[in-house]
Amino acid sequence: MTETPVVLRPAILAQAAYQQGKPAGPNDVKLSSNELPFAPLPSVLAAVRAADALNRYPDATAARLRGALATRFDVAADQVLVGAGSVALLYAAALAAAGPGDEIVYAWNSFEAYPGMVTVTGATSVQVPLRPDATHDLDAMAEAITDRTRLVILCTPNNPTGPVIAHDDLVAFLDRVRDDLLVLVDEAYVEFVTDRGAADASKLLGTYRNMIMARTFSKAWGLAGLRVGYLIGDAQVIRGIRSATIPLSTTGQAEAAALAALEASDEAARRVTEVTVRRNELSRALRDQGWDIPDSQANFVWLATRERTAEADSILREHGIIARPYESVGIRVTIGDDASVVRILTATAAVIDRYPYLRRDQSGLPEYA
Ligand SMILES: Cc1ncc(COP(=O)(O)O)c(C=O)c1O
Repeated sequence: MTETPVVLRPAILAQAAYQQGKPAGPNDVKLSSNELPFAPLPSVLAAVRAADALNRYPDATAARLRGALATRFDVAADQVLVGAGSVALLYAAALAAAGPGDEIVYAWNSFEAYPGMVTVTGATSVQVPLRPDATHDLDAMAEAITDRTRLVILCTPNNPTGPVIAHDDLVAFLDRVRDDLLVLVDEAYVEFVTDRGAADASKLLGTYRNMIMARTFSKAWGLAGLRVGYLIGDAQVIRGIRSATIPLSTTGQAEAAALAALEASDEAARRVTEVTVRRNELSRALRDQGWDIPDSQANFVWLATRERTAEADSILREHGIIARPYESVGIRVTIGDDASVVRILTATAAVIDRYPYLRRDQSGLPEYA
């Protein structure tokens, strides 16, 4: 590490900055950031253009969007907090709940931003390995909670592996943990879920005052570039978290786009269905090639390439597929447009031909931790 000219916190210096999904060349297909493959809806673009008072600060409370979300989820507006992407709100929740000496429990592998976020709070990460089928091990997570635990994050569907937490299991977990412990259910991909037994934190908001849910307009709503997400929970908890947010970070354009997207819910749902149908077809085709594909309920699939991840990623790149490798664990591939499917399958066939021991029937259960 090069020396810094001023004193910075050693834990921050030791932490790698967030790594974005790789950009794609002109002939590549970018499947590295779980974005939607569709252009923005015309009504959304029109709303962004109309929000043209760029010389003015935005409404710091994003009251119109909070109102629309409150109506949608049948909660009070003061139970909703809007921020510059759900990742900004995850940071705020972590900062509100935990500091030096405290612990934050989450599954691993899970969303790559969690470790850095915990470091920023000064708290300690307690990572609980996923089970062999790439699902959360909720018993182990409950057992990992100590007197020092201030926040538990549950990611459903889990990024990068794809499976959900079952709704009944989420309820059992919430019943089991201390009721003064903040549980954040990160549902960034929930709109892609087709499994009827999957967790839906929105249905538990009135029951568990210690639970908050995080959702985003970046994925299913196709607004990743505008940065807008939201938290919903108990009004007092939300008020506390709001104090830890960066003021004025949700722009007027982002708020207008999110409102317009909500107005176009039917069209958004049609797009989501196109993605989920493709996800299921791709998962089946990959299993037919011999891959051990976890049951993804999100807009990506997971290839357990393990210690061959770097080599497998190179083969994908040779085929113009820019995916997201997780060193020595696996590769996450976002569901793209129709044309990307054949390219993915050609590339994954080449990987499994080269490393036949990665086949489901030969590898035993993959390791996800
Ligand atoms: C699990 C999960 N949570 C939160 C986010 C943050 O999304 P955004 O900040 O764009 O709302 C992501 C983005 O990749 C994610 O995968």
